[in-house]
Amino acid sequence: MKKIWVIGSGIMGSGIAQTCCQAGYHVSIMDTDGPCLDKAVHNIERALQKLEKKQLLDQKAADIFANLKKETSFNGAATADMVIEAVFENITLKQDIFKALESICGLDTIFATNTSAIPITDISAAIAHPQRFLGLHFFNPVHKMKLVEIIKSLATSEDTVETARQFVFTLAKEPVVVNRDSAGFIVNRINGMAFLEALRLLEKGVASVEDIDKAIRLGLGNPMGPFELMDLVGLDVVLNARLNIYNETREPAHFPPGILKNMVKAGYLGRKTGKGFYDYT
Ligand SMILES: NC(=O)c1ccc[n+]([C@@H]2O[C@H](COP(=O)([O-])OP(=O)(O)OC[C@H]3O[C@@H](n4cnc5c(N)ncnc54)[C@H](O)[C@@H]3O)[C@@H](O)[C@H]2O)c1
Repeated sequence: MKKIWVIGSGIMGSGIAQTCCQAGYHVSIMDTDGPCLDKAVHNIERALQKLEKKQLLDQKAADIFANLKKETSFNGAATADMVIEAVFENITLKQDIFKALESICGLDTIFATNTSAIPITDISAAIAHPQRFLGLHFFNPVHKMKLVEIIKSLATSEDTVETARQFVFTLAKEPVVVNRDSAGFIVNRINGMAFLEALRLLEKGVASVEDIDKAIRLGLGNPMGPFELMDLVGLDVVLNARLNIYNETREPAHFPPGILKNMVKAGYLGRKTGKGFYDYT
């Protein structure tokens, strides 16, 4: 594989694009929001320059950056070997994107979604050839986190899974394969419960945001507490992931507490908006 298209240039899309560039792929990053795309590309250039200064690159930052192309439509995606979608966590939006890509790309192009918690089979139900479709779930921040969950839908072919596994290794990351397509996969299913418990403790006044985070950092050795992590991920992303898991399982334990919904309604989405459980202004 040589050419990778990344759809969406937010937190995850920009991280995935940078990682693919560093691994030597020719990367096109596409977004319908021009300013967001410009900002993402600018941030990638700066991040590469910083890594170069720290002598953490084996090529010149400018050479790696030269592998990155900005796109505002899907038209050039016909020659992509793989498309990785990282747009908002919305099933209709994701399905529409893959339907559009299907009319442009050949059957050899692998389609991957970075969804946090939408079952892969539900997204791929919209396309005619779901055997080339799978979940490639990267973690935030992409350049630091080693894990990529590879999620099979009911229809994903073994060839597609194997190609994706080899691709993940080329990014210097480690894959785990999720055999049964269930919302939240492994990490979000387990960590999401920790988020919900932290929110419930906060709502009940058991402890403050700062002390819950401190307890989890110092008591469990986690690098971040749950509120710091939710702010990093984005509270809208956390809420959508919890709702998707609740909608699939209908288990009350997965239902997000009111405080999370209110924060999202108020636009307090975490680091990306400057305010979440902490203030970043
Ligand atoms: N934030 C995290 O920590 C995290 C971790 C793993 C997976 N995810 C998943 O990755 C996906 C993206 O999350 P994010 O946090 O990067 O979101 P984000 O809000 O930072 O970025 C989403 C981007 O998608 C773009 N977009 C929207 N519609 C588009 C379209 N039709 N075509 C092209 N671009 C479009 C937006 O302009 C925006 O730039 C979601 O499915 C999310 O659940 C997020």
